[in-house]
Amino acid sequence: MKNKITNPKEIKVGVIGYGGAFNMGRAHLKEMEAAGMTPVAVAELDPQRLAVASQDYPGIQTYSKVTEMLKKSDVNLVTIITPHNTHAPPGPAMPQGRASCGL
Ligand SMILES: NC(=O)c1ccc[n+]([C@@H]2O[C@H](COP(=O)([O-])OP(=O)(O)OC[C@H]3O[C@@H](n4cnc5c(N)ncnc54)[C@H](O)[C@@H]3O)[C@@H](O)[C@H]2O)c1
Repeated sequence: MKNKITNPKEIKVGVIGYGGAFNMGRAHLKEMEAAGMTPVAVAELDPQRLAVASQDYPGIQTYSKVTEMLKKSDVNLVTIITPHNTHAPPGPAMPQGRASCGL
C-alpha cells in the first residue's frame, strides 16, 4: 500500500468543532493523543473557542473555516464534533487520502 503509516505518531489529527458545552473537541483530541497520534489542527467557527484550543494546545493550527484547514493543514484524520445536524457538509468535502469520523 502506498504511503502506509506504521507509527501512530505519524497520524496528524484534527477536530472540526471545539465547543464549550461538553468540551468534546478537546476530549477527542486528548483521546487521539493518548492513542499516540499527533494533534495538529482545530477548525471552529467561534474565535473564543479557537483561543481556548490554542491555550489547551499551544502552537496548534487554528482555522475558522473547514475548507481553509483542509487546504492549508496536512492533517490526515479529522473528527467532526459539531451539532449532529451539521455533520454532512464537512464529511463529503474531505479530499482524497484523508479520513473523517462524525460523532
Ligand atoms: N455521544 C456523547 O456522549 C456526547 C456527549 C456530549 C456531546 N455530544 C455531542 O457532541 C457534539 C459537540 O458537543 P460539544 O458540547 O463539544 O460542543 P457544543 O455543542 O458546545 O458546540 C459545538 C461547536 O461546533 C462549532 N461548529 C458548528 N459548525 C461548525 C463548522 N462548520 N465548522 C467548525 N465549527 C463548527 C460551533 O461553533 C460550536 O463551538 C454535540 O452534537 C453534542 O450533542 C455527544
